[in-house]
Amino acid sequence: MSAVAPGGEELLAVRDLRVVFPGTRPEDAAVTGVSFAMNPGQTLGLVGESGSGKSTACLAIMGLLARGATVTGSITFRGTELVGLPERRLRPLRGKDIGLVYQDPMAALNPVKTIGAQLREPLRLHLGMSRKQADERAVELLDRVGIDAPRDKLRSFPHEFSGGMRQRVVIAMAVSCNPTLLIADEPTTALDVSVQAQVLELLSDLTTDLGIGLLIVSHDLSVVAGLADDVAVMRHGSVVEYGSVHQVFQRPAHPYTRDLLAVVRELEGDPVDAGGRP
Ligand SMILES: Nc1ncnc2c1ncn2[C@@H]1O[C@H](COP(=O)(O)OP(=O)(O)OP(=O)(O)O)[C@@H](O)[C@H]1O
Ligand SMILES: [Mg+2]
Repeated sequence: MSAVAPGGEELLAVRDLRVVFPGTRPEDAAVTGVSFAMNPGQTLGLVGESGSGKSTACLAIMGLLARGATVTGSITFRGTELVGLPERRLRPLRGKDIGLVYQDPMAALNPVKTIGAQLREPLRLHLGMSRKQADERAVELLDRVGIDAPRDKLRSFPHEFSGGMRQRVVIAMAVSCNPTLLIADEPTTALDVSVQAQVLELLSDLTTDLGIGLLIVSHDLSVVAGLADDVAVMRHGSVVEYGSVHQVFQRPAHPYTRDLLAVVRELEGDPVDAGGRP
């Protein structure tokens, strides 16, 4: 389940990743020496406090960092090196082999286009479907993510949906072209607490059913605990702890992880002490 076998068929391998934004000193790298790996179908949680470099690492994988950012190290996706890959070779991967779910569903959806039009777009672009085929697939996808009366909803606009429904649509779009990797950066933080758990459950069910690897970013360890096989804890641009969720939660090696766990347990009223604390 966890721990990527050496020399195995890795889905994603990030090795010694370093990102320096323009105008900042090299010693202030946003990401520095980050390494982790995922097997196909595996879920990896990336956690850490605000500013620890989680989003920067994800954007580096997608090749979507601000122009001028210096990226070194290696990011291989199914054996292909992505660092330094020209934009024309990256573009076909994005939205097809690698799906993306952002924090804010409204930012991911175009307010003036119907849900149907937006779902059809990647299907026509990446899979070459006809409009009719794309419509059928869009209905299937909306149904799969739990949207009622999916055929009628193709003509709806994003503002007619609740936040939770919008995020379901974004998730439907992200998996529409059968990606092998889904990157979800804080996918529920913009949602009401009451729908957060439902959306996380959907992500978990979908990626399990479809065998999609999920890289899920959260500042909340409890989100990752319920979803991930492995967890990487980031702090100040580095990975300070990395292992199976079980390992990290049972025997956190780093004081920072122990503090994070203590907070989660306090919030959840768990009487168990953050294991390993002296
Ligand atoms: N475009 C940019 N230019 C300069 N610095 C940036 C840029 N984007 C991010 N940073 C800096 O890089 C560091 C890491 O930021 P990042 O957004 O990756 O953190 P994060 O872990 O995703 O935080 P959050 O939990 O708040 O989303 C921060 O110090 C941030 O200020
Ligand atoms: Mg972020």
